[in-house]
Amino acid sequence: MDPIQEKIDKLTEELHRHNYYYYMLDEPRISDYDFDQLLQQLAELERQYPQYAHPDSPTQRVGGTITKQFETARHVYPMLSLGNTYSEGDLLEFDTRVRGLLSRQPAYACELKYDGVAISLIYEDGVLVRAVTRGDGVQGDVATANVKTIGTVPLHLTGDVPPLLEARGEIVMPFASFEALNAEREEIGEQPFANPRNAASGSLKLQNSAEVAKRGLQFKLYYALGENLPFQTHYDGLQTLHQWGFRLPDVLELKPDIQGVMDFIAHWHEHKKELPFPIDGIVIKINDFEQQTQVGSTAKSPRWAIAYKFPAERVSTPLLSVDFQVGRTGIVTPVANLQPVSLAGTVVKRATLNNRDFIKDMDIHYGDWLFVEKGGEIIPKIVGVDEAHRAVDAQPVQFVTHCPVCGTELRNNEGEAGLFCPNELHCAPQIKGRLEHFISRKAMNIDSLGEGKIDMLYTNGLVRNAADLYDLTFESLFGLEKVVEDESGKSRVLSFKEKSVQNILNGLDASKKVPFERVLYAIGIRYVGEVTAKKLARYFRNIDTLASATKEELMSVEDVGDRVADSIIQHFNSTENLQVVMRLREAGLQFEVDEQTAQPASQKLNGMNIIVSGVFSIPRDELKAIIEQNGGKNVSSISKNTTFVLAGEKMGPEKRKKAESLNIPIYSEEDFWKLIKDEEDS
Ligand code: IVH
Repeated sequence: MDPIQEKIDKLTEELHRHNYYYYMLDEPRISDYDFDQLLQQLAELERQYPQYAHPDSPTQRVGGTITKQFETARHVYPMLSLGNTYSEGDLLEFDTRVRGLLSRQPAYACELKYDGVAISLIYEDGVLVRAVTRGDGVQGDVATANVKTIGTVPLHLTGDVPPLLEARGEIVMPFASFEALNAEREEIGEQPFANPRNAASGSLKLQNSAEVAKRGLQFKLYYALGENLPFQTHYDGLQTLHQWGFRLPDVLELKPDIQGVMDFIAHWHEHKKELPFPIDGIVIKINDFEQQTQVGSTAKSPRWAIAYKFPAERVSTPLLSVDFQVGRTGIVTPVANLQPVSLAGTVVKRATLNNRDFIKDMDIHYGDWLFVEKGGEIIPKIVGVDEAHRAVDAQPVQFVTHCPVCGTELRNNEGEAGLFCPNELHCAPQIKGRLEHFISRKAMNIDSLGEGKIDMLYTNGLVRNAADLYDLTFESLFGLEKVVEDESGKSRVLSFKEKSVQNILNGLDASKKVPFERVLYAIGIRYVGEVTAKKLARYFRNIDTLASATKEELMSVEDVGDRVADSIIQHFNSTENLQVVMRLREAGLQFEVDEQTAQPASQKLNGMNIIVSGVFSIPRDELKAIIEQNGGKNVSSISKNTTFVLAGEKMGPEKRKKAESLNIPIYSEEDFWKLIKDEEDS
């Protein structure tokens, strides 16, 4: 064997072992520093000799893979959800129901209900090949590169592992990582995440897996699926998976009856705040698989398991002041600043008061003690006023009459609760909000710019609208400064360095290729969301036809009603808006459908699950877009549900073998164009 290969094998094995000690046993045997040294050695060797790198190499923990677009994959077994209960009564009912279906009392396995994102991990011959999110339960997003960075996800398993194993569990963000992440986001002017679950979910959607690696996510195993698994109970299953390389659940207890389950629940209701990660209840499962089968499942959820959700936690805390925030569309939202209070694991300082009617209906006064509630999923919500605490001279909260930023008198549209600032062209938060929308992921996706940088450009007077972005130059950006204050009030100066300037310019340049439908969404016509923009683009084909369309023409597009049509007409009636479009077009943005690649929307591939593999005459992303535009679905893993494989040059031999073994047709690019065309003619 080549000595290099031997060295790579040895390092790989050694690092796998240390990962196991660290993540699975919580017993590191070398220092972090020594581990990093070994890891770097391996990474360098893999870079020079990629032919020897293992697909499950520990270097993948570090990330670095860029996912442009997440593919979807069908779940081998549907990902069901659990029935929820909220009371002792519900639990007794569950117990009575299942006992009625069984000949002997079942033992119940009790575990924590982790509050994160469900994930399915597919292991083929013990190697992690795919990680898929729950999605709609039938198919989800493939997030393999991101999930591989999570230390507690084993990249490979050892022992007598079945050839195909699916491990399911939850990806959670511990509170400490959550707080650190939000602090960092606030510092750079990004919106903090509302709760650890959103943060976990947002992290899995990041395009750069190296970023995911920094987020401190954890994987919590909760069961396994596969053919002929060598265990007969849930409890033994988790022990066996532990033998193969997974961590044991933090808490797993068998209870002989429902009373034992209730004691378990009472204990964790009391102690859940001591856990370093969020849970929102307890999951109870019949332990014995045979009994599980006897009890059965409905289409949506198993009857052999149930989730007990803790009641929403509620505290009361004084209202210190009210901020009035102006959003992208000018709507003014009142936000309560509260005396910081800890609630369900996080500190709450602010909560929305929604609108003028909300304040009036609750009769909120300054200094009032407000009840704040947090259910499992939601951000803190104000649910009432503790009137016993109100001072005699307390003043009711008055909604502002003028824009708190630009001073313009607020208006309200008939039938709408919100008040808005009509000064859309000159009111700073509206201008910045539109720019943030323009660069956002689903719009122009310029991720080298963010909220913080937009603010910097705005404050320095460089941008007022989207077209100004394309006038930016290296000279105008380089060295640009912004003073930021940290929590203690200390200020620091941030300035643009060469690299971030170049990134911004590259990002802007790349955005010139963004297809028309997303440009249309990006320019921010009120009420024109992503889906409407797509439909408008397909119907009108270019901006000129759209801008000159009559109301009647607009309304002949699916989903476009009175309100949307009026808003489009109003948008293109404004000289300012027309000028922005003109300048953006001059800058080179797409204002028409690219007829070469874009097929008219059709349902020709309706119901077809298609795998695109290999190299084609046009970029793969474009090919996939065409599939979607014609009603097809892009999937990433071959199964019996795959309709056909669209094979380009250099398609992987493994895929071809698998397709052939399942009798799935393989189409060439030429076949594909013919398929679309033939059907078109018929
Ligand atoms: S078992 C058939 N166990 O809660 C479903 N789920 O609706 C079996 N969850 O989406 C799921 N902790 O993501 C199970 N210990 C646990 C869990 C758990 C959290 C999530 C899961 C699912 C939801 C239930």
